[in-house]
This record gives sequence, structure tokens and C-alpha cells, in this order.
Amino acid sequence: MNIAILSRGELLYSTQSLLIAAEKRNHNVEIMDPTYCNVLIEKNKVLLQYHDEIIDDIDVLIPRVGASNTYYGTSIVRHFEALGVYSVASSQGIIQSRDKWTSFQLLATAGIPLPKTTLGSPAYLKDFLKDFGDGKVIIKILEGTHGNGVILCENYVNALSTVETLQGLRSRFVMQEYIAESMGSDIRAIVVGDQVVASMKRFSRAGDFRSNLHQGGSAKSYTLSDKEKEVAVAAAKALNLEVCGVDILASTRGPLVLEVNSTPGLEGIETTTGISVANAIIKHIEQSRN
Ligand SMILES: Nc1ncnc2c1ncn2[C@@H]1O[C@H](COP(=O)(O)OP(=O)(O)O)[C@@H](O)[C@H]1O
Ligand SMILES: [Mg+2]
Repeated sequence: MNIAILSRGELLYSTQSLLIAAEKRNHNVEIMDPTYCNVLIEKNKVLLQYHDEIIDDIDVLIPRVGASNTYYGTSIVRHFEALGVYSVASSQGIIQSRDKWTSFQLLATAGIPLPKTTLGSPAYLKDFLKDFGDGKVIIKILEGTHGNGVILCENYVNALSTVETLQGLRSRFVMQEYIAESMGSDIRAIVVGDQVVASMKRFSRAGDFRSNLHQGGSAKSYTLSDKEKEVAVAAAKALNLEVCGVDILASTRGPLVLEVNSTPGLEGIETTTGISVANAIIKHIEQSRN
């Protein structure tokens, strides 16, 4: 098959891992940097130009669209969708998973367990905040990633000054129940199709509550419980993503989904678990296309 990997960095670990896995299984791979893609509409035809070439021979798309490039990146994914090219992440799925509130709404509608979360009308923020009591509360900027934009407030006054500051900056955010019993750790499950192919537990570095590897967290291989598996696969389905990373907090009332990542990094999970997630993705593509 002709597989296109949409990625800004040919040398990035995840891109290389997918390239090697696909070539090993005898596929032709084109790594396309969205920066050099032009999508155009001419005489009622949609065209994609890459450098100075028109691209019209792709069978499968693997989008690796970064958070800083969501709009343009998904416009290219949409181009391939219009041509009927199979993509492991839909443009809609990528967009919806990028916005924390939108994804919480979709996950909740699908019956996925989540921490108590509120967007809150700006006029009634104080009241919404009171609803969380005087204990710790988490505030998250809607488009934050890698742990940037997640704030742990110690009490009501602390949270109030934080939300007022964010409002002043015209930043949109959600307020969320703090799950203390997760103790700075979370679970990352990689879903491919309707299977969890690899999973790990991440631990925050001392003094932090965020377990993101980008924040200096560490990771260990971890086998999910049946319930955690079920929740991870259902979350991927709710956001219409064939391949994704689902983040889960272990709470006293069972697994709670924190977010779904449409472009999960492969380095942390592959080096931690020794599993080739890239190979699982390529195999899944072959099965889906047959
Ligand atoms: N409600 C919460 N309770 C406890 N810890 C949380 C909560 N929300 C987030 N965290 C911690 O902060 C990290 C980052 O939060 P997350 O919502 O995944 O944002 P990001 O998209 O920036 O990774 C999580 O991996 C987890 O360790
Ligand atoms: Mg996260």
C-alpha cells in the first residue's frame, strides 16, 4: 500500500518508528510535512500539492498532527477523507479531542466515567466553584497539552483568583474535581482498533501532581484491568479515533478518563513496554483495508 504519514518531523521518534514498521511490511511510505502541502480547490476538484507535485496515489493516511497545527493539519486530513482515503484518525476526531470541554461532552454522552467537570457560565463562576467545596480543585485551559495549562488550586480562594485571572486573559478553561487518590500517577493506554495494544503507568516527579513525561514524569509497564480496557476502548470509539492514547486516572470509584490523544507519542510507550505500537498500527491498517 501507499501510506502517507503526515508529520512535521521526518526524524521524530514516532514518525521513524511508523516508517520502519511500514517498510518492514513492504509498504511504500511518503512522509509529508504539512508545511509543504497546499490544498486547493480548482474547477470543483480538490487537489493536494506537495512541494511541486500533485499527490493522488495515497491509499492510507496516518496523521501525526501537532497541537500547534490543528487547523491546517486537519484541513489536509479532510482532503484525503473527501477522496475516500482511509485515515487512522478522522479530522473530526482530531479536532474534537483537542478541545478538552468538547471531548468531555462527547465522552460523557457515550457513558464514559469522568471526574466531575464543569465549563461554567462566566457569570456564575463563583457559584460553580463553590460546588467543589473548599478543597483542592483542578483548573484546565481547554487547549492545553503535555501538562501545560493544568493548574492545581489548593482551596476556594486560590481557585477563585486563578479563574478570575484566566477570565481576564480571555482564556477558556474547565474546573475539575481533584482525584487525590491517583497520587500523581495516571495510566496511558494505546488503543488500536478495538484493542489496547500497550499500556503504562506514569508517575509525576517529586513535588508535582502531573504525570506527563514532558513534565519529567517516569513510566512503568502496566497491565490494564478488564474495566480499564473496556473504558479505554469505549473512549476511543466515542471520539471516533481508530488509533489514540487514552489517559485514565485510577479513583476509588473506578477508572476515570482524563483525555484522549489523537496523536499519541510512541517513544515513551514503546521504550517503556518494549512493544512496537507502530507495528500494531500498520497491521491494523492492513486488516481494515482488506
Ligand atoms: N482531575 C485530576 N485529578 C488529579 N490529577 C489530575 C487531574 N487532571 C489532571 N491530572 C494530572 O495532570 C496531568 C495532565 O492533565 P491532562 O488533563 O492529561 O492534561 P494534558 O492534556 O496537558 O496532558 C494528568 O496526566 C494527571 O497526572
Ligand atoms: Mg494528558
